[in-house]
Amino acid sequence: MPDIRKAKPENCDAAKDIRYLRYLLEEFGHLPLGERCSQLEHARQCAALAQAEGAARPLVCAAFLHDIGHLQALHLLLPGTDDEGHRDHDRIGAQLLCQLGFSESVFVPVAKHVEAKRFLAACDGDYIQHLSPASKRSLQLQGDTMSSAERSRFLLGTYAQDAIALRLWDEAGKCDSKAIAEMDYWLDLCELELTAGIAAKQLPQNITSTSLESNG
Ligand SMILES: [Fe+2]
Repeated sequence: MPDIRKAKPENCDAAKDIRYLRYLLEEFGHLPLGERCSQLEHARQCAALAQAEGAARPLVCAAFLHDIGHLQALHLLLPGTDDEGHRDHDRIGAQLLCQLGFSESVFVPVAKHVEAKRFLAACDGDYIQHLSPASKRSLQLQGDTMSSAERSRFLLGTYAQDAIALRLWDEAGKCDSKAIAEMDYWLDLCELELTAGIAAKQLPQNITSTSLESNG
């Protein structure tokens, strides 16, 4: 009997999808988009911070890919893209990661990392002072601080704590340089995570076909 947990899912082409993410990072990752370091540096630093704090693999991948929506917007020349990226990069990035087959434990924190900034800014006045100038500017465009009702709703939603953790790494991962793993290391991690995400989505289908086969 085949081990369904190890079976390669149908239409699984994680390697091809990772090549697309690599293309975005190689083509546009050198841009700072208003920050002190390049987008690729920022992604690597955020992922390294997540890993150093013992985050699970999906959240480390989310930390690495949380701003991929900026790069996707640049690639597609989406209206609204400027030299600080795209104000809806959270939604654009999460949609891309969902379409590629990442699990919701990856794309939901990405979708919520801007909301998490609005949440943290409402909870702690000092938090805003530590935002980068570009992040302060985008906060205004993204709806400013959350109201009390919005904060309650946010906390009740899924992956709220992961989104908050991701946001804190986001703010911390904007230094000039750090001795951290190169892009290939993080992309390999993302490929493992994507393969697992695609396999999990196809598991019920595989179970059904295996059951049908074994039942003759
Ligand atoms: Fe970021």
